[in-house]
Amino acid sequence: MADKEQKTLFSGIQPTGNIHIGNYLGALKNWVDLQEQYRCIYSIVDLHAITIDQDPKKYQEQIMETAIDILAIGVDPKKATLFVQSKVTQHTELAWMFNTLTPMSELERMTQYKDKSQDHKENINVGLFDYPVLQAADVLLYHAEVVPVGEDQLQHLELSNMIGRKFNNKYGNFFKQIKPVITAGARIMSLTEPDKKMSKSKGEKNYIAIRDSAENIRKKVAHAVTDTGPAVEGKKSLGVNNLFELLSLFSDEKTVAKFETQYNQKTIKYSELKKALAEAIIMTLTPIQKRIKEIETNPKKVKAILDKGAKQAQVIAEKNMADIKKKMGL
Ligand code: TYM
Repeated sequence: MADKEQKTLFSGIQPTGNIHIGNYLGALKNWVDLQEQYRCIYSIVDLHAITIDQDPKKYQEQIMETAIDILAIGVDPKKATLFVQSKVTQHTELAWMFNTLTPMSELERMTQYKDKSQDHKENINVGLFDYPVLQAADVLLYHAEVVPVGEDQLQHLELSNMIGRKFNNKYGNFFKQIKPVITAGARIMSLTEPDKKMSKSKGEKNYIAIRDSAENIRKKVAHAVTDTGPAVEGKKSLGVNNLFELLSLFSDEKTVAKFETQYNQKTIKYSELKKALAEAIIMTLTPIQKRIKEIETNPKKVKAILDKGAKQAQVIAEKNMADIKKKMGL
């Protein structure tokens, strides 16, 4: 612990069920890799996810499932803090304060808000609009400086930095600027609509969940679209590009090089590329799924990890909130 850089890292994931390989490659894999290097705080952001309808009877189960998946992927409670957002009330308290610093026009620009209000016309609530302000509060509450996310979250993090700067200008220097961590795999595309990012909301066939059976993975990859996108001479279609990207992230250089050569020589058979990709994904997910099964046998232990995580987070949140209130004259 002593030689850990003292910088704090924060990231969050919504407990909407079915964590997919986009979440894994874009974010969760980095959560694991970075826990040696920083003081890591990871949150299951249940207050964010209720901006879209959730079934209250199933919600606790979904939160537990998300926690189990995160642990199975390799987040280690001895190295990182893992907690459920609603257990630390300062997140919403700080979001309210940040609301008073955030121009409506900035929130109106947010791509995720625009997309989600298109997808959920029946429920365009104020929470959906305000979502990025709560996200800014999540990060800044812990003075986090490092935030690993997928590419779709960059706009939200820019807004967080704007809010931090506004606070500093108005109330005196306090928040540091945050730095997103983006790696290869930060934008994994849908298998069925490769011009859109892989996402739970686009239906079962567009994503591979980390809990999917081998049979299901083979089927989904076999059905992945290869012929859409700009047919620019010599350029891969979006679907094919996505399959190659996934292959490079799940498989080894030799396999990728083999298919690249075949692609260039126009001898490639997509059915073979897909088979190789499906098996590589299965190889990565099998040990994770095995750990999920093990962890599932002991839900009490998972609850204890989350309780302990919430206590650790509360200590930091309370101290920082006291400082923030003082700065604001509250
Ligand atoms: P969420 O739950 O939608 O997604 C969790 C993480 O997965 C990344 N991701 C992807 N990465 C690559 N390709 C994809 N197709 C893909 N789809 C999702 C997301 O970028 C994210 O990193 N607003 C956040 C949760 C959040 C948060 C925070 C994140 C709340 N507060 C504070 C960082 C810091 C979200 O919607 O995640």
